[in-house]
This record gives sequence, structure tokens and C-alpha cells, in this order.
Amino acid sequence: MNLIPATNYDEASKKAAEFIAVQIKGKSDSVLGLATGGSPVGIYERLVDAYRAGLDFSQVRTVNLDEYVGLASDHPQSYAYYMHTNLFRHINISLDNVHIPDGTDRNIQQQCASYDRLIGELGGIDLQLLGIGHNGHIGFNEPSTEFTKGTHCVDLTQTTIEANARYFERETDVPVKAYTMGILHIMQAKKVLMIACGSDKARILHRAFYGPVTPEVPASILQFHPNFTLIADNQALQYFNKNTLN
Ligand code: F6R
Repeated sequence: MNLIPATNYDEASKKAAEFIAVQIKGKSDSVLGLATGGSPVGIYERLVDAYRAGLDFSQVRTVNLDEYVGLASDHPQSYAYYMHTNLFRHINISLDNVHIPDGTDRNIQQQCASYDRLIGELGGIDLQLLGIGHNGHIGFNEPSTEFTKGTHCVDLTQTTIEANARYFERETDVPVKAYTMGILHIMQAKKVLMIACGSDKARILHRAFYGPVTPEVPASILQFHPNFTLIADNQALQYFNKNTLN
């Protein structure tokens, strides 16, 4: 694991955006796996700044990790809406090159198969950006008895619903199912970059990267990824003993 500590969220976002910019400069048609949620907002702001300073997204291709089942792309809480509002609308990316699971497709098998096919056709993911849930989820791969493989539809756990309720008017408005890329797709990405900030992420980070590799903590599988970088602030790293982690 490559650990890049930061003093705070702003610095972590800046370092993560620089990491992504280096990827795009090195391979202009990179396939970026993108995440939503609170953690990457600062990264996307910095990437918009980088675009304004000359970074070219015209060849970049993206695949998002997940989408709520039942929300259309124009729903303000959908991940499609989030991506357009926070990033796509502000940069010169071609909308033909951005991909997000279709939350309105109720044909689960068809939607999952077509997303898997798409990732294959793109040649896999060059750089996958991740946040981490309080229960160790990555994408919406919730704690389980086995590691998932391809795209699938999940029942969100109560902790995840509660954590995401902050974006909805009422907790009961939070969708209970989501499409998500599987752990295998994430592990097959050539590089994986995780951002984690704040003391509320400290315990799960420690569990994921010092504890056993287990599907009960899905992020723990990243201990085995050959090119994994964690960018985290001091609060999130408070239980890390930097002398023993490598
Ligand atoms: C979002 C996603 C989730 C989030 C995780 C952390 O696309 O895949 O795994 O990364 O729930 O969310 P935040 O960043 O809001 O703490």
C-alpha cells in the first residue's frame, strides 16, 4: 500500500486530484472508475480547476461505481445527477464517454450484464477512485460472507441507509437497493485510489488495513491490490501506526 497522509480534507482532495491529473496526462484516454458521496466532492472541484488550467478530458472515459435503483438520472439524489453537477458539466468530457448504471432499469440481470460488458469493452479500469463506508463497504459492496465479482444489485444495509439519509428529506426516501460494480472489477483496476477523511473513518480504516482480509470488511481486500494508494487526513489516520504499515 502506498499511503499519502494529508493534514486535512482540502489537502487530501488536492493530492488526490493531482494523482488523477497525472493519470490523465500519462494516458489521455484513461478509463476512470468514479465514486460519489461526500469524500470526492473536493477532488472533483480541484479537477474542474485543473481543467480550467488546461487539463484535457476530451478522451477520458468514465465508469461510475454505483447507482440507486429506482432513481432516474434527473433525480437530484441520483448519482448520475451528482456526477453531472459536480464534474461532467464543468469539464470538456464527451457525454458519450461517461457511464453510470441505469437506476431506472428494473431488469436486474440485463442491467448488470450490460454494465459488465461495457467495462470489458472499455478494456477495464485504469484508475478506480473509492471512498469507504463506515462498515467497510466499497462501492455498495456491503459486508457479506463472500467477495462479490461483477455488477450486481444489493439491498443496502441499515447503516448505509442511515449514512446516506443526510442527502434526502426523510430516511424513508433513501432507496433500499442499488446497482454496484463488484469487488472483482475493483480489484482488476490497474490502480486504486481511496480517499478517507475525518475521525468517523478512523476505526474502519484501521480495521480494513490492519485487520484480517475478510468479506465482512469488503475494503480489506485492497490489502492484496498490487497498486493501491490511500490518501487520508490525520484524523482518519489516528489509529494508524505509520511505522508498521507498508
Ligand atoms: C459512492 C460509493 C460509496 C461511498 C461511501 C463513502 O459511489 O461507492 O462506497 O464511497 O459510502 O461515502 P462518503 O464519502 O459520503 O463518506
